Amino acid sequence: MTTMNAAVVTSFDEPPHYRGFETPTPHGEHEVLAEVLAAGLHPRVRSGASGSHYTSTGTLPMVPGVDAVARLADGSLVYFISDDDRVGTMAERTVIDLRRAIPLPEDADVARIAASMNPAMSSWVALHARVEMTPGASVLILGATGSAGRAAVQVARRLGAGRIVGAGRDPERLEAVTRLGADAVIQLTDDADATARAFAQTAAEVDVVIDYLWAAPAALAMSAILHARADRSRRLDWVQIGSMAGSDITLPSALFRSANLHVVGNGQGSVSPAGYRAQLPALAAEVQAGTIGVEPRTEPLADVERAWTERELPGERVVLVP
Ligand SMILES: NC(=O)c1ccc[n+]([C@@H]2O[C@H](COP(=O)([O-])OP(=O)(O)OC[C@H]3O[C@@H](n4cnc5c(N)ncnc54)[C@H](OP(=O)(O)O)[C@@H]3O)[C@@H](O)[C@H]2O)c1
Repeated sequence: MTTMNAAVVTSFDEPPHYRGFETPTPHGEHEVLAEVLAAGLHPRVRSGASGSHYTSTGTLPMVPGVDAVARLADGSLVYFISDDDRVGTMAERTVIDLRRAIPLPEDADVARIAASMNPAMSSWVALHARVEMTPGASVLILGATGSAGRAAVQVARRLGAGRIVGAGRDPERLEAVTRLGADAVIQLTDDADATARAFAQTAAEVDVVIDYLWAAPAALAMSAILHARADRSRRLDWVQIGSMAGSDITLPSALFRSANLHVVGNGQGSVSPAGYRAQLPALAAEVQAGTIGVEPRTEPLADVERAWTERELPGERVVLVP
């Protein structure tokens, strides 16, 4: 048995520890062992490491990490998404299923790709594969102040949105969303009536909602928008992507009968691995070109325990480097 250094979760209540772990073995014609160069610490990684993600099996110890930039044995660089059943990417080496990998140029900005692909692919894949966004469409991003929300502003603009509205809690972070290119912002406050009025005034005529929050803010926004819409039979596409505000929602049935509301999800399962892979090369090119992406904050993998608990600055994503 050979071992490698890795971030190892031994309890769902603690951050991972840096320690030895058995090097995984590739199986079948599509799998290879590769050297990890950089792996992003995304919310999905945290929920997997706390046992709370919907794909979690409850098995410990585990190595977290859902994607990474890696170097193959022939020296080439790839970005890849990990298979849920495998050892994760926060390790010196990992097994890659080449059907979930895309080639990167030798001069790829490894840290930026590792930081940006996960947050950016949520809206990129949603707007390519889950809804049809017509040129000039009006897009609302619920949860626009996070990394995925900020990337969604850039993605929507790049894909031809005519108007972009960002909604979030933090006023300073909302200002940054405006600087990124949003045409208007809505602050989510504890005053539900005022927040509903803001959605009615600013977002009643949107065509697509990209929702990273769900739960109470999504229910409030949905109701306010549909009630304020000039023509309720005009289609509203609601793409559910994250659940930062909670995993459950209560919606009056009348909302669906009284308006042309289409709710779909975007995530593992709603789009096949091949469907994701098909979208990734073009997104990686945008990230490499600097048109879309978040700022990486690189940390040594050996410091994973500290990096895990330190708060990220707005627009920043921790990237662990073995
Ligand atoms: N399905 C997919 O393909 C996919 C891909 C990427 C991400 N996601 C999901 O998308 C979500 C966001 O990811 P991210 O990378 O943007 O995370 P992030 O950078 O940590 O940002 C989280 C955002 O959620 C906001 N937030 C947290 N709790 C909230 C609440 N109770 N009410 C309103 N806003 C709240 C935060 O607002 P403040 O700024 O006010 O703290 C912040 O803007 C996560 O659930 C993630 O798992 C899904």
